[in-house]
Amino acid sequence: MRMYDLIIKKRNGGILAREEIDYMINGYTKGEIPDYQMSAMMMAIYFKGMNREETLDLTMAMAHSGEMLDLSTVKGIKTDKHSTGGVGDKTSLALAPMVAACGVKIAKMSGRGLGHTGGTIDKLESFQGFTTGITTEQFIRNVNEIGLAIMGQTKDLAPADKKLYALRDVTATVDNMSLIASSIMSKKLAAGADAIVLDVKAGSGAFMKKQEDAFALAEEMVCIGRGAGRNTIAVVSDMDQPLGFAVGNALEVKEAIATLKGEGPEDFTELCLTLGSFMLLLGGAVQSEEEGQRMLRQVISDGRALDKLAQFVRAQGGNEKMVYQPELLPKAELSYPVYASEDGYIERLVCDEVGMCSLILGGGRETKESVIDLSAGIVLNKKTGAYVQKGEVLATLYGSCQDKIEAAGRRLAKAYQIGEQKKKKGPMIIGVVK
Ligand code: URA
Repeated sequence: MRMYDLIIKKRNGGILAREEIDYMINGYTKGEIPDYQMSAMMMAIYFKGMNREETLDLTMAMAHSGEMLDLSTVKGIKTDKHSTGGVGDKTSLALAPMVAACGVKIAKMSGRGLGHTGGTIDKLESFQGFTTGITTEQFIRNVNEIGLAIMGQTKDLAPADKKLYALRDVTATVDNMSLIASSIMSKKLAAGADAIVLDVKAGSGAFMKKQEDAFALAEEMVCIGRGAGRNTIAVVSDMDQPLGFAVGNALEVKEAIATLKGEGPEDFTELCLTLGSFMLLLGGAVQSEEEGQRMLRQVISDGRALDKLAQFVRAQGGNEKMVYQPELLPKAELSYPVYASEDGYIERLVCDEVGMCSLILGGGRETKESVIDLSAGIVLNKKTGAYVQKGEVLATLYGSCQDKIEAAGRRLAKAYQIGEQKKKKGPMIIGVVK
């Protein structure tokens, strides 16, 4: 087999066979197929697409390119959850302890922030001492003992995806449905959970700006999950404005803690209850979503969900005191309010711009080497649909550099579009793909 022939085949709209996909992924992982040939193949796939079978074959080849975590020593059904990424998306921080407190085991692999979107690992590091760099043995022990563990992507897990993602990032081939679906699902399959709940975001703060694209991605990933023998459900949720009110690492941790105490924002709480009820359903703890939601509300009101977060933070080296005293979390030196320039309704809050402002403040990385300021970020006072009067505070920015906070403040003011129309906010849960 020759890579050259496979590139021609795909370029001409042909369908790649499983053996051809295996050859290409194995060769690329080992460094036998060079980046320039793989770049040509990625561009050919970008234009000619892949059918469902090819996408599944590609996912399986990528998942098997490294270690496949064996969680068979963990008793019961192991569940995982994945979000395609958004602004203010602190879902795992609240959802994982809620579900674990209900008795369903979570073995989760998380990532760091990407572009304007935040990442769970960065957020969790707001807890002094917390680490996701645990061994596989400790990961399995924690899932067995406390029902919950989160680790980062090791270099042995889906290495083909690691190489391909970096290549796609610089060859303008990221936003292709088959390539995104196989990238996400290869990591999920390699991480070993039996059941996967996907949160596919749609809107200006998401990868998929259009709802129909989000549904297509959701269907593709559910199909892959099922094809690989994992029980998979996808929820398509709104990311046209930030989730909750807090954006930025420690600020989001505080909001997640408030949610675990039953004092969280409505939209964020609704998303956690929906995703959580599906996790409980797939985990075999309940018979219906309604029963799942009741059980989740119960562990919030009796304090078990918050205690589970503290237990999890301690088990991974973090300071659990911060869970009960969130005022101990990193705090910014500077704050900067952004005021409304006129009376009216907020017709739009451009979501990816809010993410970019948080990144400028130090909440995200400008380069791979950037060090994150865990205390930096934004607390929104007003979101789409709200009425504001001139001079009212729209949001407060937090950071440690005066120039950056002023630049981000000017940019955030422009992300608010104020007008005369009271726009009806769309639903948080747009749909479910089962
Ligand atoms: N997240 C991933 O892991 N891969 C993609 O291709 C896009 C988002």
